[in-house]
Amino acid sequence: MRHYGPIDIIGKSRAITELKAEIDRVARSDAKVLITGESGTGKEVVARAINAASPRAQQPFVPVNCAGIPETLLESELFGHVKGSFTGAYRDKPGKLEMSDNGTIFLDEIGEMTLRMQGLLLRFLETGEIQKVGAERPTNVTNVRVVTATNRNLRDLIGQGLFREDLYYRINVIHIVVPPLRERREDVPLLVEHFLRRFTSLPLHGHGNGSGVGLTNGGQALAMAADFSPVKAIAPDALAALCDYHWPGNVRQVENVVERLVVTGRREVIQLDDLSPEIRVPGQLHMRPRRERRRTIADELFKKLREDGESFWTAVYPLYMNREITRGNVRDLVHKGLEEARGNYKIVLRLFNMEPTDYKRFLNFLRKHDCQLPFKEYR
Ligand SMILES: Nc1ncnc2c1ncn2[C@@H]1O[C@H](COP(=O)(O)OP(=O)(O)OP(=O)(O)O)[C@@H](O)[C@H]1O
Ligand SMILES: [Mg+2]
Repeated sequence: MRHYGPIDIIGKSRAITELKAEIDRVARSDAKVLITGESGTGKEVVARAINAASPRAQQPFVPVNCAGIPETLLESELFGHVKGSFTGAYRDKPGKLEMSDNGTIFLDEIGEMTLRMQGLLLRFLETGEIQKVGAERPTNVTNVRVVTATNRNLRDLIGQGLFREDLYYRINVIHIVVPPLRERREDVPLLVEHFLRRFTSLPLHGHGNGSGVGLTNGGQALAMAADFSPVKAIAPDALAALCDYHWPGNVRQVENVVERLVVTGRREVIQLDDLSPEIRVPGQLHMRPRRERRRTIADELFKKLREDGESFWTAVYPLYMNREITRGNVRDLVHKGLEEARGNYKIVLRLFNMEPTDYKRFLNFLRKHDCQLPFKEYR
């Protein structure tokens, strides 16, 4: 099996074999690549594999999720900003385009970009210049490889006036289509085996490693597996049922199903009756592919507060006051905070990086804008 550095593309179907050959081909050039396919088919894996097989493998691979980020945040995320350009911009910050110079930028969910952002991106693709938010002069970024992905039909979006045709032609120099799993069922057993090995050879919380693929099971890891699950294998009839299933959520769904089977398994060998009825009972109505839950605006804001250490007053408050995010977004964010704080607003204050003396101000703000959620439900 071919390896792309730490990236493993599992599958021996004709579709996957051809996909790998195509990845090798396009990795040699710097041409822009558009990757399309249903949710969970492996578009990000393909993007990472292209980078890993390319001469840029040692350079940065910079993923940007264009969905679920308010427009102005995305603009400063991609293009960077200069100090003082908006409330909370305390220092100059390079954008992801600048950070991926000499490497590869991966613009995921490109179909969700607003028309204005599409215009800014197009200008960059045409001129190689980026305009930092608040900057007077453009900066040159000349050597970025641009890989994009979407699970939307961009042609339809163009028809609806939601995606720029000129941008479509720019990004779509090479088009890679990742086929849904139900069109390559031969790959199901390999994927099941791959995820079984992964989830039985790691401690429960040890598998969230970002890239999500290519982990190997050292002997030590295997020994730890016994600590939490007896599962080691799957019975042939259970595997056959998995192969017959239509997998509307594609490879990601296989991953989730196998993980659940390992975590909840009480026997060494997974049996047919361990599978959920949806999978086990053949001949059911085939549902339309399901759209996976996207990261929401509240998710992104929460991440800014919790992981990037930004304060509610600089990362959230101005956006709300400028009507760039809605009351619903703030409520969702408070909900996430209360969940983590088990209903304690004082702890929410700390989680959102505010001073203890801000307590009153924070609660007043929430009350005034109808964003104060009853804490009792979180106790
Ligand atoms: N061929 C494959 N071999 C191994 N793992 C895979 C393969 N395809 C997908 N995966 C795994 O399945 C999960 C989903 O893949 P990925 O995130 O690349 O899908 P996606 O097409 O980007 O989905 P979405 O449209 O929802 O963003 C990931 O954990 C990924 O590692
Ligand atoms: Mg993706």
